[in-house]
Amino acid sequence: MSIRNRLLFWLLSGLTVLGACFVLADYLIDRALLADIYDDQMSQIASAIPVHFSGSDLETSGPALKYDGDDSILQIWDQNGKLSYSSHPAIVLPRFSTLGFSETKWRGSEWKLFIRKTDRNLIQVAQSLTGRRNIAIEHALRSLIPLLIFLLIMALLIHWSVGTGLQSLTRLSQELAKRTPDKLGRLATQDQPAEIRPLTHALDTLLQRLGVALEGQKKFIADASHELRTPLATLQIQTQLVEQSLGSGRETRALADLKAGVKRTSHLVEQLLMVSRLESAGIHDPHIPLQLHEIAREVTIDLIPYACTRKINLGVEQLDAGLIMGSEHHLHILLRNLIDNAVRYTPSGGQVDVTIRARQDEILLEIEDSGPGIPPAERERVFDRFYRCLVPQATGSGLGLAIVKQVAELHQAEVQLGQARRLSGLKASVIFKRAA
Ligand SMILES: Nc1ncnc2c1ncn2[C@@H]1O[C@H](COP(=O)(O)OP(=O)(O)O)[C@@H](O)[C@H]1O
Ligand SMILES: [Mg+2]
Repeated sequence: MSIRNRLLFWLLSGLTVLGACFVLADYLIDRALLADIYDDQMSQIASAIPVHFSGSDLETSGPALKYDGDDSILQIWDQNGKLSYSSHPAIVLPRFSTLGFSETKWRGSEWKLFIRKTDRNLIQVAQSLTGRRNIAIEHALRSLIPLLIFLLIMALLIHWSVGTGLQSLTRLSQELAKRTPDKLGRLATQDQPAEIRPLTHALDTLLQRLGVALEGQKKFIADASHELRTPLATLQIQTQLVEQSLGSGRETRALADLKAGVKRTSHLVEQLLMVSRLESAGIHDPHIPLQLHEIAREVTIDLIPYACTRKINLGVEQLDAGLIMGSEHHLHILLRNLIDNAVRYTPSGGQVDVTIRARQDEILLEIEDSGPGIPPAERERVFDRFYRCLVPQATGSGLGLAIVKQVAELHQAEVQLGQARRLSGLKASVIFKRAA
C-alpha cells in the first residue's frame, strides 16, 4: 500500500471511529434530555385539565388530532368508566391504573404513561417510547452531515498534502537515476522536507564513498598494469637471453636470471591479488579468537632459512600469550610481510628481533632490525601502494606495507613505524585490541 493510501486509511478510520463515538454520545444525551422535557410536558397536560372537567366541555370544540409518532395522547374517563375524551381518536389505549409516571407495553410497543385521578375523572397522558427514541436518533443523524463534510475535507487535504510531500521523493529518484559511475555529484537538498534530508545526506555520503572506492580501483588497476609492464618486459628479454645463450656455455647463468625474474613477477602478482582480495575481506573472513604469539612463532620459524641465506640473525625476544580476535590467514600475511622486510632491508650480518608484549587491554607486536631504518619523512608514504624508498637493494613490489596496513585496519589495529631502540634500525609496531 502506498504511503498516501496508508495515511488516508488510518487517519480516516480514526476520524470515523471518533465521529461515530460523538454521534452515539449525542444520541444518548439527546435521549435523556428529551425524556425530561417530554415527561414535564405530559404532567403539565394532565394538570391542565380542570378538576370538574366534563367530557362534553371539549367534544364539540376539540378537533380530532392526527397522531404523529411522539405526540402525547390525552384520554379522559369519567367516574362511570366511560371514555369521555380522547385527543387522538385513532389510537385508543386501554385505561391503566398506576397513578403518576409508569411505563407499559401495549400491543408490542412501549409507552410512557402519566395518570392523574380527580373526583370526577381519570386523566391519562401517554406517549410512545419508540417515538421518543426516533426523535433522538433523527437528531443524532442530523449531526452526521457536518461530520461527513469534515471527513471529506480531511481526505482531500491529506491527499493533497501527502502528494506535495512525496514530490520531493520523486525528484530525488529522478536525480539518482541521472547518476553514473563517472558522474556522482552531490544531490540537491533545497526545498526538501526535513524528513527526506537525512536520506539525501546518507545517499550522498554513500555516493561519495563509492566514488572514492571506484577512483581507488581505477588507480589500482592503472598502477598494477604499469608495475607489471617492467617485470614482464624483463622476462621477455631474459627468455631471449636464454635462447641466445644455448650452446654458448652461459645457459646456466641465463636460466638462473630467468628463474629469479619469474619468481619476482609471481611474487608481485601474488601481492597484487592479495591487495584486491583484502579489499573485500571484511565480508569473507570471519574473525575468531587467536593466540598471536603462536602465529608469530610459526612465521619466524618459516623465515629462518631465508634469514640464513642473508646471514641475518632472526629470533624472538619475548612472546607473551594473549588472545586477539582475527583471521589467522591475514595475520600470517601481516607478520610475514613485516619480518620479510626486516630481513630483506637489513644488511648481511645484522639482526632481527620479534617481540609480542601483552598489556592490560592490548597485545603489542614489535619487529626491530639493525638495518638502515626509514627516514621519518617517508614513514607515512611507505604505506602507499607501489611506494619504495630509493635504496639500492629495493627489489620488492612496494605492496608489502600497504597489505600490512589493510590487514591491521581489518583488525582495528594500529601500525606504527619508528626508530628501533636496541638495534638502531626500524621498529615496526602493531597494536591489537585484546579479545574480551
Ligand atoms: N625494515 C625496513 N628497513 C628499511 N626499509 C624498509 C623496511 N621495511 C620497509 N622498508 C622500505 O619501505 C618500502 C616499502 O616496503 P613494502 O611496502 O614492504 O614494499 P617492498 O618491500 O615490496 O618494497 C621498501 O621499499 C623499503 O624501502
Ligand atoms: Mg616488503
